Amino acid sequence: MKTNATSRREFLAVTAAMTAMSMAGCATGGGGKRGGVERRKFGATGMEVAVLGFGGAEIGYEQATPETVNQLLNAALDAGLNTIDTAECYRESEVLIGDAIAHRRRDFLLFTKCGHTAEAPAKGPDWTRDGVVKSVERSLARLRTDAVDLVLLHSCSLDELKKGECIAGLEDAKKQGKTRFIGYSGDGQAAKWAIESGRFDALETSINICDQQALNMTLPLARERNMGVIAKRPIANAVWRYDEKPTNAYHHEYFRRLQQLGYEFAAGDHRKELGPDGPAGIALRFTAMQPGVHVLIVGTTKPQRWSENAALLAAGPLDKKLYDSIRTRWFAIAGQDWVGQT
Ligand SMILES: NC(=O)c1ccc[n+]([C@@H]2O[C@H](COP(=O)([O-])OP(=O)(O)OC[C@H]3O[C@@H](n4cnc5c(N)ncnc54)[C@H](OP(=O)(O)O)[C@@H]3O)[C@@H](O)[C@H]2O)c1
Repeated sequence: MKTNATSRREFLAVTAAMTAMSMAGCATGGGGKRGGVERRKFGATGMEVAVLGFGGAEIGYEQATPETVNQLLNAALDAGLNTIDTAECYRESEVLIGDAIAHRRRDFLLFTKCGHTAEAPAKGPDWTRDGVVKSVERSLARLRTDAVDLVLLHSCSLDELKKGECIAGLEDAKKQGKTRFIGYSGDGQAAKWAIESGRFDALETSINICDQQALNMTLPLARERNMGVIAKRPIANAVWRYDEKPTNAYHHEYFRRLQQLGYEFAAGDHRKELGPDGPAGIALRFTAMQPGVHVLIVGTTKPQRWSENAALLAAGPLDKKLYDSIRTRWFAIAGQDWVGQT
């Protein structure tokens, strides 16, 4: 363990105290705002999350420099960010995060995902009980911490969930104090099964203007069970940016859907509008206003982006007419195969 890592016992004592303070807040309504950013109770965990979090995939896949990540994360934490999501397989994401902010570990909640890695010798998926624990251990070393706040299974299949080894591995990691809570990250039937199993504290799932399956299929169930809910891909990869089919294949499906959905606010000259009533503002506010969603983990490599997006979200929920028009359009256009995108 690196010398500047907080010891596990010390870390757990501090986080338990933070949870108690936040539970005391719950008694008086909880939530509220800090640094101008809305905070929400994260299900039954006792944790409170700023509604705008940080998604760590982009810095890994786009190979952001350590200097950029250092600047980006420290500025965002100073401005009110308190939840960071990453995964072992996002290339160097965990290492970049650990190097940039491990020294201020008490300032944020740290979520990571396990089950497969991008690098040899462990390269590829491993959903065995021992494999999952080892994945968590590698993440702790890369993140330079003794424990994280949440580990989620990184989109394993329904079959793997049913086999149960991966869940047992995650529960082992929790018992060993390596993570405070456990969750499932994924979509569709697997996400539904994970919620109904009652074994998880949290769900991470795709919710945005181009991906609304979860709004009917899983979000109400997660809400009933008081699970913490993380909206992944919450700004729909901002696909209105592209004049033509993007080169990044990961953005193709939402680009195709947006063409068909034809939302006026994300077409023609409106695509360039900034501010809360431009496409980015509307997309973020749509996701944030879903009952049961607690935190939006927008991915970015741009240091100023977190504050810009926090300002867009400060405008609050969309007006009912606009909101209803987005839902109506979805029901009219979305095909049976418009399933949640991992
Ligand atoms: N299976 C899984 O568990 C899974 C799958 C996918 C994602 N995730 C998690 O969810 C996080 C978010 O997903 P994501 O990064 O794929 O999707 P996203 O957050 O919907 O989109 C990120 C993209 O939107 C752009 N963007 C952000 N704010 C913008 C704004 N105001 N205006 C214009 N463009 C803007 C970013 O570009 P800039 O760099 O220009 O800001 C980036 O390219 C990931 O980082 C990851 O942590 C998990």
